[in-house]
Amino acid sequence: MSEKANYRRNFLKGLLAIGVISTTCPRKLLAKIEPEKLVSDPKGILGIYKLKLSDYPKLATMWGVVRIEIPTIEGAKTRVVITRIPKDSYGVDFSVILENCTHQGRPIYDVNPETEIIECSGHGSTFDPTGTYIAGPANKDLETYKITYDGGEYLEFECYFFDPKTDVSEQNSKYFLNDIYPNPCDDFAVIGYGISESNHLDVDLIDLNGFIIRSIHSGFIESGSYNLRFNTSQLNTGTYFVKMKYLNNEKIVKLLVAH
Ligand code: FES
Repeated sequence: MSEKANYRRNFLKGLLAIGVISTTCPRKLLAKIEPEKLVSDPKGILGIYKLKLSDYPKLATMWGVVRIEIPTIEGAKTRVVITRIPKDSYGVDFSVILENCTHQGRPIYDVNPETEIIECSGHGSTFDPTGTYIAGPANKDLETYKITYDGGEYLEFECYFFDPKTDVSEQNSKYFLNDIYPNPCDDFAVIGYGISESNHLDVDLIDLNGFIIRSIHSGFIESGSYNLRFNTSQLNTGTYFVKMKYLNNEKIVKLLVAH
């Protein structure tokens, strides 16, 4: 078989494998974990997450994948994809990657062991198993987390954490509104927001003239962090703002809609 035919065969096999993964294992969530400890650093509070590998037998096998929900990345609940990868090729035993693509936030598929490529479920951007960008509209690497693994029983990774009970909450006037993703968005967007004390909260979508065109949330809310997905498919292409009002404070984030 010619080299070209061989490449095509392997490529098609790769596509088939991706199809099987997406059908039989549609980004299955295996667990939720809380940070083991919180550490202050100049940028804020780092959450240190610790996995006991024997609790995740899939990670004992090369290319094994688990998806885990962690309570906050700068306030928003999110999922990370942990993959066992060959150290000889990539210099580390595991990769820990944010589940959402850097293009428009769609979830990534598990790594394809045959092609050693991660593909985005949205528009097909591709990345290597450590999240390094290869091709497609994403144009940048996936978001990854610092990992510590000494070959033992535990794997540790870290990311920035917003805990309403920490000093960071004081510095942020007891509430926060994260960036929105994807941004620009097409048919949906996700806002991470939260407050440290239960109280009334308004989150509104505003147009360029300052008119509220939709209430995303209005009413009493328990303290904590939230991840809110809302539909933008009916909005015209253009610029909008998300305004969060809590007590006497307001925060505003720009949102671009592009269909
Ligand atoms: S969201 Fe990943 S390529 Fe578009």
